Amino acid sequence: DADSKSSAMSTVFFGTIVHTKSFNEFESFEKGFLVVDDCGKIIGIGHDYQEWVSSNPVRAKDLREVWLTDCQFIMPGFVDCHIHAPQFAQVGLGLDMPLLDWLNTYTFPLEAKFSDQQYAQQVYQSVVHATLRCGTTLASYFATNHLESTLILAREAVRQGQRALVGKVCSNCNSPDFYVETAEESASATLAFVEEMRKLGSSLVLPTITPRFALSCSKELLKELGGIAKRFDLHVQSHISENLAEIEMVKGIFKSSYAKAYDEAGLLTNKTVMAHGVHLEDDEVALFRTRGCSVAHCPASNTMLSSGLCDIQRLVNNGVTVGLGTDVSGGNSVSIQDALLRTLDVSKHLDFFKKQNIRGTGKAKAQDPNYVPLKYKQAMYLATLGGAKALSLDHLTGNFALGKEFDALLVDVSVVENPVRRLNVDELVEKFIYTGNDRNILEVFVAGKPVKNDCQLK
Ligand code: GUN
Ligand code: FE
Repeated sequence: DADSKSSAMSTVFFGTIVHTKSFNEFESFEKGFLVVDDCGKIIGIGHDYQEWVSSNPVRAKDLREVWLTDCQFIMPGFVDCHIHAPQFAQVGLGLDMPLLDWLNTYTFPLEAKFSDQQYAQQVYQSVVHATLRCGTTLASYFATNHLESTLILAREAVRQGQRALVGKVCSNCNSPDFYVETAEESASATLAFVEEMRKLGSSLVLPTITPRFALSCSKELLKELGGIAKRFDLHVQSHISENLAEIEMVKGIFKSSYAKAYDEAGLLTNKTVMAHGVHLEDDEVALFRTRGCSVAHCPASNTMLSSGLCDIQRLVNNGVTVGLGTDVSGGNSVSIQDALLRTLDVSKHLDFFKKQNIRGTGKAKAQDPNYVPLKYKQAMYLATLGGAKALSLDHLTGNFALGKEFDALLVDVSVVENPVRRLNVDELVEKFIYTGNDRNILEVFVAGKPVKNDCQLK
């Protein structure tokens, strides 16, 4: 294991601790405790510290104590299930077009520049730094077609101590001639990347198979990638059903639904996360559930690129795991906290839409008098444990279950807000979600190691 583990001693935090256990289960400990061992694993959590000490007398020796204030709490780190690291170079720019024009006009030319490793180093260093600042303890990154630059991104995540999945992007068709590979190049560079990652030997950063989307990959390449994923038991990530024009083209080429195009290549597995899924049809949702693959909900990008309103409750209610993605730079913010708030917004907008329709203003199909907008605690689940589940890493992270790694945020609501009265546990979280930003995140821990202030740019 090449990761630099903190040489730190074991630590016990005293104060307010919150996490989620499922979509509808939020758990909090006011005046609670949480013990992290010297390997960064959670070995104690609860209300009664004395009881824990008496049943763990050896472990309780030499603990460093950290006392939180009344305005502070500890919560699980944010999980970004879908982010394009190279596109951080244009974040907030070029958001005036729908998907396919946006790709051709801004994004392919930008990504082509990552043949330059120095440029890649600069951008990748900044994006890992920026996401860590915003509390992203686990990110699933798309890099570019370039093997060397993709390795730079993986090494940068390891260096700064961020947990990550990193994918070399694959595209061999319907792409500009300055940014395209042959199927053979794509598959062999993917294999080389997987091999280099094995040599790197990081437990934090893993390779993930990354066909850009069905439009930019031939059937043969998709099959090849599905085979590699299976052979090495790897994670898979891509895009699905984001934009109506895109969906029509995919159906035309593959003569099947968008989900079937991936499924026939063996790319829908229980380690697969697909971004967007705005327009998935019922049979595709059912296929997702059968295969155990997940959706990365990207509300900012779905709005910015005019893709649509994704009804994630429909996915959740049909047994599909959902996490959140920033989708930088289709999304304009690197912050999952921002994605969380956008998720609540989109859900409210869907609610207006579905209920307005009952008064006869829209398509009958969209009507739903029973729709209940998402609650902030459910959105917090999506931003943490839901994301960890979507990335099939919930055995390691996503909440504070005993034995998991301590991937966490120390939040302080008093930094920008000045409550006139003491807030209760729920209110602390609510305040942070609705009014907070990265300034409220005082520290970020990955595997027990503080990484927010450690990650100064070189
Ligand atoms: N579909 C294929 N590539 C992309 C991308 O870079 N961003 C988004 N949002 N959708 C895509
Ligand atoms: Fe994307």
